[in-house]
Amino acid sequence: MCGIVGYVGKTLDGKAQNVVMEGLARLEYRGYDSAGIALVTESGVETEKRAGKLENLRSALEAHPLHDSRTGIGHTRWATHGGPTDGNAHPHRGGKGDKLALIHNGIIENFHSLKKELLAEGVEFRSETDTEVAAKLVGAEFDAVGDLTTAMRNVVNRLEGAFTLLAVHADVPGVVVGARRNSPLVVGLGEGENFMGSDVAAFIGYTRHALELGQDQIVTITPDSHSVINFDGSPAEGKAYEVTWDASAAEKGGYDSFMAKEIAEQPDAVANTLLGRTKDDGELVLDELRISEDQLRNVDRITFVACGTAAYSSLVAKYAIEHWTRIPVEVTLAHEFRYSDPIVDDRTLVVSVSQSGETMDTLMAVKHAKELGALTLSICNTQGSTIPRESDAVLYTHAGPEVAVASTKAFLAQITAAYILGLYLAQLRGENYADSAKVLMTELREMPAKIQDVLDRMDRVVEMANFMADTRSVLFLGRHVGFPIALEGALKLKEIAYIHAEGFAAGELKHGPIALIEPGQPVFIVVPSPDSPHELHKKVVSNIQEIRARGARTLVIAHDGDEDVVPFANEIIRVPQCSPMLAPLLTVVPLQVFALHLAMAKGLDADQPRNLAKSVTVE
Ligand code: F6R
Repeated sequence: MCGIVGYVGKTLDGKAQNVVMEGLARLEYRGYDSAGIALVTESGVETEKRAGKLENLRSALEAHPLHDSRTGIGHTRWATHGGPTDGNAHPHRGGKGDKLALIHNGIIENFHSLKKELLAEGVEFRSETDTEVAAKLVGAEFDAVGDLTTAMRNVVNRLEGAFTLLAVHADVPGVVVGARRNSPLVVGLGEGENFMGSDVAAFIGYTRHALELGQDQIVTITPDSHSVINFDGSPAEGKAYEVTWDASAAEKGGYDSFMAKEIAEQPDAVANTLLGRTKDDGELVLDELRISEDQLRNVDRITFVACGTAAYSSLVAKYAIEHWTRIPVEVTLAHEFRYSDPIVDDRTLVVSVSQSGETMDTLMAVKHAKELGALTLSICNTQGSTIPRESDAVLYTHAGPEVAVASTKAFLAQITAAYILGLYLAQLRGENYADSAKVLMTELREMPAKIQDVLDRMDRVVEMANFMADTRSVLFLGRHVGFPIALEGALKLKEIAYIHAEGFAAGELKHGPIALIEPGQPVFIVVPSPDSPHELHKKVVSNIQEIRARGARTLVIAHDGDEDVVPFANEIIRVPQCSPMLAPLLTVVPLQVFALHLAMAKGLDADQPRNLAKSVTVE
């Protein structure tokens, strides 16, 4: 939610504006209901802000160009307090003569009481935002102390909630000050110029040298320096790292949309996540896990906490890890975890799954788990983000930057990481139930090629999406690991094509939802492979017959060679054969492609669906 960019360089020219606008374009996925920029120019701080997508801000800047500058900040917004209007867009101004401009990501929870105090002092507000309170406070502090870092420090200690704040001031033209609590902020280190951003995509076109900040820290950048302090004023140091991907990874690269590109990148996302995690003889090594083998052997319960798509990858993990290790696994939506009085102790491994590493609900669940004494492990795609930093250990997925709001390649990478974790635990505890870890790891390494095979077969799915553009409702059924895939298929369709969609466990249908089936109702069914245990396959084939008998249009996802489904399928989408447990890596792909092309057929922007933002950094 909300993208933030900051820049400071040496030369008074158009670069600051260009860097900020390019950064905002790369961060627009984080929020896109309004955008704004502030530049420190020779005439003071100049701002421009506009409701709507970044394009509106760009046009406004063309119509009323700002002066040359060497310092700038910019913001792309996902509204929380106050609607998406020009007035509520950031930056907000404060201090004598409105010399300060400030942008914010997060929520200042005590803004009401602070605003009341300021109103009583006669301060006038121009917006309904919580942000303007911080702008007025930092502005007034600067007027009192004459130093932007100190002013920021004096104010952040009065704020409650989650926030990243960036400020510039007309009297200190070569300085940007940022502060973070429970909300992302990274620093980019250049030659004679420095950057800040909600994530490294903001400045990846200029530098790959990044600095990770800790919790409750303030960073001050000038063209030649950066310094970090804690909110209590003590000196601190960020953790320097190199970004391993380049600017092209955060661009569309010839695809119509980021989502199309990210779907196409899924074979690489899985392959890269598997890379370096086994020895030559197939034994799994997880060097990066900061939890000792003894602690892991001691674990007697695993709880996954995650939201949305990441929660569905966690559900796949539950089936796999319980089967391979016999450790009980539960999956709790992160926002429900804290309030469910969870049963957690020092033998519980709480695994958080998050693409962004910034989802506030998930972060809060991790913190709560730690308070309760659990071991915490983060499966995460974003290096340097908050959730892995707050966790005892991290298993990074290596899907590369995911820009489209709807998660695709991160989902496959999360499932892959969960398989690795499950097989590692099985190997470590010597409890490898039924399957052998080495055999499955070998098969996992074949999955990227099989995912590519699925991608190469998508012509019919695209045709189906095109002729189903006016469909009003689609149902999705699955059993076992196919159940989370049904949920994910429905979520994709809801969020980017705005079509009512529901996913069900196929066995649950007869307990109520079958009443929804009427002639012509499209239903996707994720069919397990014929060699699945417990007659699973047979049972799903029966479910297909039951709905077909009631007039449903059956859109069947089945493995190559499965002839049993043929008589009952209106459409068959084939995927290659694989072990039943690994099938989600294949069966979800047609559902992603279907949702994308249905959104396109309806003329919708799949990358930036309405009301949504990537990285949900509010609770
Ligand atoms: C759906 C989607 C969301 C995210 C969820 C968690 O396509 O993208 O449901 O999966 O908001 O986000 P992360 O993984 O960043 O914690």
